[in-house]
Amino acid sequence: MSRSVVSPLLEVVHVSKRFGGLVAVKDVSMKVGKGEIVGLIGPNGAGKTTLFNCIAGFFAPTDGQILLGADNLAGMAPEACARLGVARTFQIARTFTSMTALENVMVGAFLKATDVRLARREAHDLLAFVGLARHADRPAATMTISEQRRLAVARALAVKPLLLLMDEVMAGLNPAEVREAVDVVLRIRQKGIACLIVEHVLEGIMPIADRIVVLDGGRKIADAAPRAVANDRAVISAYLGA
Ligand SMILES: Nc1ncnc2c1ncn2[C@@H]1O[C@H](COP(=O)(O)OP(=O)(O)OP(=O)(O)O)[C@@H](O)[C@H]1O
Ligand SMILES: [Mg+2]
Repeated sequence: MSRSVVSPLLEVVHVSKRFGGLVAVKDVSMKVGKGEIVGLIGPNGAGKTTLFNCIAGFFAPTDGQILLGADNLAGMAPEACARLGVARTFQIARTFTSMTALENVMVGAFLKATDVRLARREAHDLLAFVGLARHADRPAATMTISEQRRLAVARALAVKPLLLLMDEVMAGLNPAEVREAVDVVLRIRQKGIACLIVEHVLEGIMPIADRIVVLDGGRKIADAAPRAVANDRAVISAYLGA
């Protein structure tokens, strides 16, 4: 039995998101279990980022519930969602380029840290965790794409989430950098943090995901183990069609 059935952390229940006449997410239900890695895949425009934005409080869903334990996050502000345990990275990196790597992570830590020294210590620990220990004092603007992605993950982890949402953190990376990103995700799971990962880099997500949810045209068309999803006719035709 999958862990999500035993103890769901996040339950998305019949969520829809409409933009005027366009329904970007259509009646999607899905779960993420405690400490589970779930991949969210689908062709461009499938609604992946929109669903993320609903879970993280950046959009209020038009319909449905987003349950994190006893709380319904639907319609809550991003900061409220973060305080309850949902952190995210952005598809388009939002690094503070004029700040150092350490300062970028401290921004995340200040959501919960009570003083600057504590925030700084936590930020150092998280930079080490994502393999950037030696880069603390570097201006973020001078970092490679791969380093900036890991920096964004460290900043998201600084809010001490139960659930980390990652939007295309492997896009544009070379194979060695993808392996580093995969290692970071596996270490995040070891901390007991659940990961919901939007990714087009299937060779990054398929080997490590407990489950893969596939969206196409806003609808969920598959939700199963990676191997089953890779052989699913509807999934193959959605990708070939794209
Ligand atoms: N703020 C918005 N206002 C209007 N339409 C939007 C908005 N955000 C997304 N959309 C539309 O909703 C649909 C789903 O977009 P979304 O960004 O969620 O797709 P995606 O699966 O993340 O795609 P990609 O793989 O290209 O990132 C698209 O048709 C998009 O144009
Ligand atoms: Mg997207």
